[in-house]
Amino acid sequence: MSIPPKPCYREHHRPQFHFSPRENWINDPNGMLYYNGLYHLFYQYNPSDKAWSNMHWGHATSRDLLHWEERPVALHAEPEGLGYIYSGSAVVDWHNTTGLQQGEHPPLVAMFTHSSKWNRQVQSLAYSVDGGDNWQMYAHNPVLENPDLEDFRDPKVFWCEQQQGWVMVLAAGREVQIFRSANLKDWRYCSSFSAGAMGGVWECPDLFPLPVGDSELSKWVLLLSINPGGPNGGSATQYFIGDFDGEHFHADDDEVRWLDYGTDNYAGVTWSSMPQGDERRIMIAWMSNWLYANHVPTAPWRGAMTVPRELKLLPAAHGLCLSAAPVAELASLRCGAAVEVRDMLVERRQSLATAPLADTLDVELAIANGGGQASSWQLCFANAGGEQLLLQFDAAAGELSIDRSATAHQMAVHDGYMRKQVAPLQPAGDSAVGLRILKDASSLEIFSSDGRSLLTALYFSRAPLDQLQLSPLDGNTALLLERVAISELRSIW
Ligand code: FRU
Repeated sequence: MSIPPKPCYREHHRPQFHFSPRENWINDPNGMLYYNGLYHLFYQYNPSDKAWSNMHWGHATSRDLLHWEERPVALHAEPEGLGYIYSGSAVVDWHNTTGLQQGEHPPLVAMFTHSSKWNRQVQSLAYSVDGGDNWQMYAHNPVLENPDLEDFRDPKVFWCEQQQGWVMVLAAGREVQIFRSANLKDWRYCSSFSAGAMGGVWECPDLFPLPVGDSELSKWVLLLSINPGGPNGGSATQYFIGDFDGEHFHADDDEVRWLDYGTDNYAGVTWSSMPQGDERRIMIAWMSNWLYANHVPTAPWRGAMTVPRELKLLPAAHGLCLSAAPVAELASLRCGAAVEVRDMLVERRQSLATAPLADTLDVELAIANGGGQASSWQLCFANAGGEQLLLQFDAAAGELSIDRSATAHQMAVHDGYMRKQVAPLQPAGDSAVGLRILKDASSLEIFSSDGRSLLTALYFSRAPLDQLQLSPLDGNTALLLERVAISELRSIW
């Protein structure tokens, strides 16, 4: 008897240009690297259910950071042994420092946390000798024992040119610990770093250098996810900017900085290798929040990733700030005629498109700021059923916010879903506020102030939100819409 084909990747709420698994649960992205023409993405995966449990590493590959092909599970849990496969990273061991190379390919080595039934967390290795298709456990795991900490996990490993050795950052209680190794197997503790927001468990650190603006100067950035304790509830990622001497990280100041103020950008880490000549630092994050991740109304899968984002260090109100923008590749998914409007005076609620909009959108918007025009406004994604997803720019309060409470669906019972999400505005010297919005069936990613103010939020509406309206918020004042361009994005499936 043949099994009828599933209407795969076309389900209600299914992201069309973000990675999500065909079925079952995913959370953190893990082990991202580029090797031999392929970008690899691994992720926390439960192959048997769409709830968090039974962690394995799922695997997908892409040639362009956009179209992903799901591969067989890469790392299998060992429930009776060292345990489940929690988050971690992977590198290309170009110099065969591990001695694991068997043929023409350098070993690809994953370092991850084994978490046992007894919640004992240790760090282990797995490797591939065929360029990333097949993975096997290292025979002498673990390579780093637990010093008796409940939370001791999520190793991120990188090659340090300056020191000609491997460096690992690891979340250990409410510290990031730094270790060094010559061969990825024997690790020496160097230092601990602790600062910033302490409201929750520390998870998924990442450490990397970035140029400051367009200058020759570079700074080190330490990413650290915490759960709970995020600025709008639940999980969020903070970061520190400073210096790294190969063994110690020193932050420039004690300001608490959040990567993204939306509730649905968590556990983001960056690619550990990129194609030769590509200097970009690309991050991907899990698009959900531990507050409600296990309850989002999707089937047969649960969980998706953000779009890959390019990170930069830009000047901001207080020193520097980490900015993010969708990778340039994304624009190649634009299809259909873009709705484009220029210099429109908006005095009351105004529809920005006459025909129903697609469910996958890339919207660019510039609205005059000051100069007698309204500097506070509201954008509303809506549908004929009365559902609304609101984005507000409030210049007086210095805030950008998302309110998804009028798209409640089954999520209404979750306080974390109903609460308004607020991001402080980066002061814009410019005369117009520029925004880029990616909307994909059940997610909104907002990049404003050149990617210095970010809001990423899932939403679950009963029907697609196919209208877009703009209205001034300052009483009778009109606002000047300098430009809006709305493009539909092609599905990657
Ligand atoms: C972060 C996290 C990690 C852990 C993994 C388990 O979301 O809690 O710290 O390794 O998820 O799935």
